[in-house]
Amino acid sequence: MDRIEEMIQKMTTEEKVELLSGRDDWNTKGHEGLGIPSIMMVDGPNGLRKEMEGNATESYPATCFPSMVNMASTFSREQMRSLAAALAVECHGAQVDILLGPGINIKRSPLCGRNFEYLSEDPYLCGELAAEYIISLQEQGIGASLKHFAANNQEYKRMVVDVRVDERTLREVYLAAFEIAVKKAKPYTVMSAYNKVNGTYMSEQKELLTDILRKEWGFEGVVVSDWGSVNDREKGIAAGMDLEMPGGINSHDNRNRVLLALEKNPDLKASMEESIERQLKLTKTCVENRRKQEVDWKIQHQKAVDLAAESLVLLKNEQEILPLSPTKKVALIGAFADCPRFQGGGSAHVNPVCVKSLYDVLKEKDVIYAKGYPHLEEEAIRVAKEAEKVIVCIGLLDLYESEYFDRRGLELMEEQNVLVERIAQVNSQVIVVLYNGSPVTMPWLSKVQAVLEAYLPGEGGSEAIADILYGRRNPSGRLAETFPFRLEDTPAYLDFPGKGGRVTYREGLYVGYKYFDKRKIEPIFEFGYGLSYTQFQYGKLKVSGSKVNRNESCTLSVEVTNVGEMDGAEVVQLYLGFLGESRVERVPRELKGFEKIFLKTGETQKVTFTLSRESFRYFEPEIHDWAVETGNYRIEIGTSSRQMKGVAEVFVEGDDMRQLNISKTTTISDMLEHENTKELGEQLLQTLYDQKEKEGGIPEGRYERLGQSSFFTYPLRNFLDLVQKEAADQILEEVLGKDWNNH
Ligand code: GLC
Repeated sequence: MDRIEEMIQKMTTEEKVELLSGRDDWNTKGHEGLGIPSIMMVDGPNGLRKEMEGNATESYPATCFPSMVNMASTFSREQMRSLAAALAVECHGAQVDILLGPGINIKRSPLCGRNFEYLSEDPYLCGELAAEYIISLQEQGIGASLKHFAANNQEYKRMVVDVRVDERTLREVYLAAFEIAVKKAKPYTVMSAYNKVNGTYMSEQKELLTDILRKEWGFEGVVVSDWGSVNDREKGIAAGMDLEMPGGINSHDNRNRVLLALEKNPDLKASMEESIERQLKLTKTCVENRRKQEVDWKIQHQKAVDLAAESLVLLKNEQEILPLSPTKKVALIGAFADCPRFQGGGSAHVNPVCVKSLYDVLKEKDVIYAKGYPHLEEEAIRVAKEAEKVIVCIGLLDLYESEYFDRRGLELMEEQNVLVERIAQVNSQVIVVLYNGSPVTMPWLSKVQAVLEAYLPGEGGSEAIADILYGRRNPSGRLAETFPFRLEDTPAYLDFPGKGGRVTYREGLYVGYKYFDKRKIEPIFEFGYGLSYTQFQYGKLKVSGSKVNRNESCTLSVEVTNVGEMDGAEVVQLYLGFLGESRVERVPRELKGFEKIFLKTGETQKVTFTLSRESFRYFEPEIHDWAVETGNYRIEIGTSSRQMKGVAEVFVEGDDMRQLNISKTTTISDMLEHENTKELGEQLLQTLYDQKEKEGGIPEGRYERLGQSSFFTYPLRNFLDLVQKEAADQILEEVLGKDWNNH
């Protein structure tokens, strides 16, 4: 390709406008005359879905790796890198330039039909894992498409729904993962979401696409629209939305309208030129990255097995019923054991190369299979009675969750629940294996002895599950989302999926475990939870210092020992919380570090965490910027968000970026919370105290209570009536000046 600037100069306006939308479903247009090739982008995050020419319902066979919910459950940056490298092999093999993933929308509600394709309820975990995926994919010469930017947290009316969310929540919850991934990994593309945010379609949201994504975070890649999400192409160009996908009829309509708009609007022309330049740079990079690639499907399949094994979460293992010994007579019950659900539906759906069922894999062992459901209970109960142990495979069907629609509830099929209850009545050694893309309720939990969460483990799932069940591998997955007892306990319960085309994120910051912790609601299983066949012992948590000055970081370390009988991996998690009275809303704790370590029996490793200044920041709406609040912070090291192994406190010197402008509606408590008005607030209070003393003082204890409930929260216009006027005027004049009454 010639120099990009030269090419742009040679192009007519019409030719440039042509490049603003795709050629077809999966390719950009390119320009033959100028030697600009088209590039190809296809789904999906956990496996290649490259459609066969002219057949939109059939894609080429490709390895179906574990779903992204599984990958998040690995809590492993290394595994994410490994997945992406394996995906890159198949992309090169299929001459694909960009893979449309990862999808990192926050799991605001377990009802979102697409949660299987997303990572977590926690933005830090999402961002960190997404960054590794993108870095690894692009290191191998395949572009990523970080999606769906932003706040696409439901399927219902996704193409038109208006997400109403306050600025701090948007920043700290729904943009945070994108910020981490964009800054750390520099994705070639970001995909703008279907929905609106606070009244504007994401495909034309200048504040998010340009002011934040580009100017603040430094994104230099191409923004590609979600398929069919463009509403107003001119506004999209002005907002920094570069490439409308797919091409086709609506882009034709847009083309003429854009040409007309360009004649009248020179600024639009400048924006378009920038878009064209970005797209040509992307095309050049992709073309340079291309390489011939043979694909060894056996290696790819084994990788799928290994990744799945790292992702399975052992939720219960009473009396150490697991791992099974090969000699035991085992009943294998449930249709999923013979015909497993191993992936989700929609654009992430893969045409797998090699899928085995758990029954296939366990056949050589002494297992007796019975389908169990639907309507085959009696045979299953008979089989269960004769066996020493029973493995029951249940879960959600495709029609319960997918892209394009949300779930109606958290329950499994009733006949599955009944089957488990009845099996538990005839056998006291029951192991449940779950196949589901998002949390389910478990009414039978107390009656079974073990539960293995397999989620949607991809084509290698059955081998991985068998390895875990029979102890050839030690489970090390951890939940990347909360499992609630009931839907009513969930944060978004009061507003999901919204009414009248609008959904309001009233729960604010309190998403996932942060809500359950704040409200002190017990979940079935908490964020970060998962069991192992071995045990880990934690040493004392060590901190670099008890004070963190401005522009300093804080380092922590802890030693972990495998004191059990089996080699295994542990996920050491670090949570941070503000202690005492904060000037803003605070969640009890939030994940700010995680490390997955593998320990042989008896081995000890030291795990170190560094908390940068960013770790302590919160988004301050008053100044529309990040700030660190001065105060004490609690740092917890845990094996889940509710099981802590060490705690430390540090004092952090904040940066009070908040300046309070005093007006007659300012309260004393406001003044005491801001550095620039704290002294004045204290003076005013002292004036009041002095005066009360002269008038005979206030009975012990009464004043504080009164003070907390009234004087502190009086607006100044009323507070000053409480003190001698000349005293108050004299103080306020120094700040507000004579015209303070007009504020
Ligand atoms: C879909 C999805 C997006 C996917 C694209 C192409 O509607 O929202 O994730 O990459 O269209 O299939």
